[in-house]
Amino acid sequence: MADPVEIKVRDHGPYKVTGPVRLIDPEGNELEVDPERPIALCRCGHSQTKPFCDASHRESGFDSCVRARSLDG
Ligand code: FES
Repeated sequence: MADPVEIKVRDHGPYKVTGPVRLIDPEGNELEVDPERPIALCRCGHSQTKPFCDASHRESGFDSCVRARSLDG
């Protein structure tokens, strides 16, 4: 069985996605990504290259540190 895709939430930054993924726009068209490299998806909303991160989060002061919590409550 193949390793699952990993999505890592970066502090004050993007989602880093590692693994073979298909990235599809709302019209069903596939965005080109290098299958051998992780991709960074914008989480702050300020990127000029959405859905990809362009490091604008650094200038925008985006502040978010997500930590896992138990689903049990
Ligand atoms: S998370 Fe990097 S530009 Fe938005």
